[in-house]
Amino acid sequence: MNGGGQMIISTNLTIFGGTGDLTFRKLLPALYTMDITGKLPEDSRITIIGRRDYDSSHYRQIARDWVEKFTRLSFEEHTFGCFAEKIDYYRMDFSRLEAYHGLNHYYRENDIHSHIFYFAVAPRFFSIITEGLKLVHGSSSGKVILEKPFGENLAAAAALNKELEAFFGPEHIYRIDHYLGKEMVRNIQAIRFSNPIFTDVWNSRYIESVQISALEDMGVETRGGYYDASGALKDMVQNHLFQILSIMAMEQPEEFSPKGLHDAQLDVFRCLRPAGGTSIENTLVLGQYEGYKDEPLVKPDSQTETYGALRLFIDNERWNGTPFYIRTGKKTGKREIELAVIFRRPYPEVEPNILIIKIQPTEGVYLQFNIKRPGDSEDIIPAKMDFCQNCSLIHQLNTPEAYERLITACMKGERSWFSQWDQIELSWNYISCLKELYAGNKLPVYPYKPGSHGPAEADRLLEQHGHSWL
Ligand code: BG6
Repeated sequence: MNGGGQMIISTNLTIFGGTGDLTFRKLLPALYTMDITGKLPEDSRITIIGRRDYDSSHYRQIARDWVEKFTRLSFEEHTFGCFAEKIDYYRMDFSRLEAYHGLNHYYRENDIHSHIFYFAVAPRFFSIITEGLKLVHGSSSGKVILEKPFGENLAAAAALNKELEAFFGPEHIYRIDHYLGKEMVRNIQAIRFSNPIFTDVWNSRYIESVQISALEDMGVETRGGYYDASGALKDMVQNHLFQILSIMAMEQPEEFSPKGLHDAQLDVFRCLRPAGGTSIENTLVLGQYEGYKDEPLVKPDSQTETYGALRLFIDNERWNGTPFYIRTGKKTGKREIELAVIFRRPYPEVEPNILIIKIQPTEGVYLQFNIKRPGDSEDIIPAKMDFCQNCSLIHQLNTPEAYERLITACMKGERSWFSQWDQIELSWNYISCLKELYAGNKLPVYPYKPGSHGPAEADRLLEQHGHSWL
């Protein structure tokens, strides 16, 4: 039983892409913590699939070093040893259909019947892995967790989705968006709907603008090949930041069930003002950091954006006229994700009330409101309350990382915090149209200096409307 009193079904987690970065940096450290904290059932197994010529003991040794480096808890040899016993390495080329007979044999030999398949591989392999599993299983006997990006373009993604749904069944597909596992993203609903001081004013009558800002200090590092074909809009906005947008902007779900939440989010995507409704210069600014073209595996004449700033509107009664600003960029000097709600001023002489939900690295809430300057003065000045949730060690230990949370949710069959296909389809479509309009209008991808906060044009996008990035 877990803390919530629900039985976690003991199972085998097969990770395709078991020697990749994601597995080493995120999945293994997450599974290690799950094991320590009792979220991984005693008798569960982890089957690592990779092409490299390792055996289980060699793989466990490599895994040890990665877990030691990336675990958020303290690393202990003995604890890792117990965890490592759950891991087996199975060498196979998952792009060859005939290899799946061997995998099936391995499952039978080890009495493995209950499956979660984790596709930690590029989307071009999703289809062949599904085909391979189908060849030997006939019908699916498990769940599947899919990493983003889902497909390489909308048409390909739709075809892939059809194929996966036909084999696994829609209710067994868990499309992971690790932002939905972040503590403070999970907190948006609580902040919005458990506090009348926010719930009752969460609309365009009181809110002047909303900002969703996700900055990163790192560049593309070793991922130039993937990133150059993707760019900031598809890599960050269309999935992570649009998910946040939909939770920030949705109506209160009729019921707090996966369906209630998904329907409420979906309505936001449906109400996004169509791209091109306003002139594109007023909607989107793209940038590229200087030196990007020299990164490994990036085309020397690449026009891929490493920065994107958007000004969007949600055409419904709640948000009529309130802009939502979104920005994300690599090499922008700091790693910080924050959501800011800027309220309308009661009169022009005072500062606005501002609510900031801090997602990372600090997890917390900042609230700015107005008070009288202490003493004889009658001036009104802003008071700033800053609540940090992860500043003490105790809280850090209690804040599970996104992947731990989402893998645990999948094991328990909790579907609320996974992206749904219809949301992906709408957001993908929206972003593709924006990008086409941008290119069609021959708008430049503006260069910016690494370490700066992005191109000046992204500041102007707001300034011309009397706003500025916080
Ligand atoms: C990934 C993107 O999904 O999210 C990366 O592909 C990005 O480009 C990363 O760096 C950011 O995640 P986090 O959790 O570090 O904010």
